[in-house]
Amino acid sequence: MHSTETERTFPPAAGNRHAALLGIGTYRPRRIVTNEEICRTLDSSPDWILRRSGISTRPFAQSDETLVEMGATAAGKALAEAGMAPTDVDQILVATMSDPYGTDRLADEIGRRLGVAARGWQVSAACSGFTVGLTLAASLVGSGAARNCLVIGVERMSDIIDPHDRGTAFLFSDGAGAAVVGSAAEPGIGPVVWGTEPELADLITVLPEPEHDGHPYLRMKGSSVFRWAVTSLPGVVTAALERSGLTAADVQAFVPHQANLRIIESVADSVGFPEHVAVARDVVDQGNASAASIPLALDRMRTSGTLRGGGLALVVGFGAGLSYAATVIRMP
Ligand code: UT7
Repeated sequence: MHSTETERTFPPAAGNRHAALLGIGTYRPRRIVTNEEICRTLDSSPDWILRRSGISTRPFAQSDETLVEMGATAAGKALAEAGMAPTDVDQILVATMSDPYGTDRLADEIGRRLGVAARGWQVSAACSGFTVGLTLAASLVGSGAARNCLVIGVERMSDIIDPHDRGTAFLFSDGAGAAVVGSAAEPGIGPVVWGTEPELADLITVLPEPEHDGHPYLRMKGSSVFRWAVTSLPGVVTAALERSGLTAADVQAFVPHQANLRIIESVADSVGFPEHVAVARDVVDQGNASAASIPLALDRMRTSGTLRGGGLALVVGFGAGLSYAATVIRMP
């Protein structure tokens, strides 16, 4: 006789482990593109770009700097810092919006390049993807479903940017950032505040364009996204601090998605971070690297000494969707 559903039991998913970032690694492409170079194609001026976005230069990947190469290089550095071998990794989560396949194949290819046997998954949350990935990884580690996860944000935004588009051509960039998330003695990734606003989804799209032979380009209603970001994000950031039982004075750094220096400064002012809290300004010479922007900014801050190991950082991703995700993390 077959046993009934009520007779069957299985162990609970919750493993009750704390998760934390154990290593971070990045990759910035070699070729640096100035505003002057952008304006050779774009109807704009270097001064306008600097004033309206805060960006002076950005790296664009060359043909050998593929999503796989950049993602694997960043992940390899994160593993080295964590003192781990590829065999210690049970899951790879890759956040990207510029993968031409749009499937989980990229995560698997990065895994193969690194020698990680585990299955990889793609996180489709645009510029919020790295923060979403950290939260998913924390859940996997916390539940015991994975010992360690690699979270990778990697983009070749230059592949999906129309160089003649005055609203996007100067803004976006390429690069990769990765973190190892594993178990720790105390929580290193706080409660998340996340969501989407589907009624605003049309403000940022990436769709194949018949007039460009079906090539997909990112199109954005920039000023509407700007208004949404400066009005909505302060509440999201404050809620993430509250859920972690912290105030704006308790963190060492504020690391928002590096979309536009004016958005970064406006949100930091509205939240009311005191002067001792460092604010990430990686956008100035990295531009907007979408899902890679937060790990790139974190790495720059610790290299420059503004964010030390063990310090708390409030990270908030936001972008297409429109999506947002904010949490407090402890630096490895
Ligand atoms: O990562 C995903 C999330 N993305 C974001 O958060 C991006 C949010 N948006 C932005 O960062 C800004 O909206 C942009 C930097 C994209 C644009 O700045 P803006 O201050 O919002 O410009 P605007 O579109 O409101 O245009 C202001 C003026 C207009 O001229 P008039 O009507 O005032 O005479 C535009 O025609 O600037 C003009 N303009 C430009 N001028 C020179 C628009 N684009 C350009 C340009 N160069 N590239």
